[in-house]
Amino acid sequence: MATAPTRQRIRLSFMPTEPNRSLEAMLELALATPGYFERQELVELARVATAALRNAGPLVELGSYCGRSTVVLAAIVARASRQLISIDHHLGSEEMLPPFPYFDPALVDPYSGRFDSLGTLVETLDLAGLRSSVTLLVANNRQADAMLRAPAAFVLIDGGHDQISPWWDLKIALRLLPKGGLLALHDVFENPSDGGRPPFWVMEAALHLGFAPFARLRSLATLVRNSDP
Ligand SMILES: C[S@@+](CC[C@H](N)C(=O)[O-])C[C@H]1O[C@@H](n2cnc3c(N)ncnc32)[C@H](O)[C@@H]1O
Repeated sequence: MATAPTRQRIRLSFMPTEPNRSLEAMLELALATPGYFERQELVELARVATAALRNAGPLVELGSYCGRSTVVLAAIVARASRQLISIDHHLGSEEMLPPFPYFDPALVDPYSGRFDSLGTLVETLDLAGLRSSVTLLVANNRQADAMLRAPAAFVLIDGGHDQISPWWDLKIALRLLPKGGLLALHDVFENPSDGGRPPFWVMEAALHLGFAPFARLRSLATLVRNSDP
């Protein structure tokens, strides 16, 4: 039986002397990176992000974690000489911290003793050779809301799934996206038994605020803004 690619084995094929930035290679790197997007969702993410390039402005990601979705978006923008802004405070969502099962002890910084995903994210982008296509904003979403200005071609919301954080993410998306801009939301579950509610509620709110369905694959819902902000 084939074994899953490990981070170590992936590293060997991503040495700078042998750059391999095909989308397939980026998908393999993404899937060897801690994260929650499934392969088919990553392919869909690449597809909708590519569609968004028809609009002006950077692509924006809310919730980088260790870079699984980031590296796919970075590969898309790099091909088009565009930029990605990826935002995360890197302190983990509440469900990623003890005692919850999503907690990954490998992401605890040995010096501070604190959860910190920033180093792994930087390593992911280094392995991909895509550092120069991404601006990392290490900030919570309230800080990001105060900093970011329109327009953005695309916003991915995949940040905290608690009762408050996704609403700040939606506020940022409403500020950044012009008419025609694409808004993707991850972990959207219509059925409460499949997962938490806040991403679904945020999608429903966006649908009442001038967005319409654009595409859907598993828990990745993409909307298009149909009216002027
Ligand atoms: C589900 S993970 C992102 C997964 C990532 N997109 C991937 O593909 O692996 C959610 C991230 O949102 C971040 N986050 C949670 N609440 C936040 C907030 N209020 N401001 C900024 N980042 C936040 C967490 O630190 C965490 O890394």
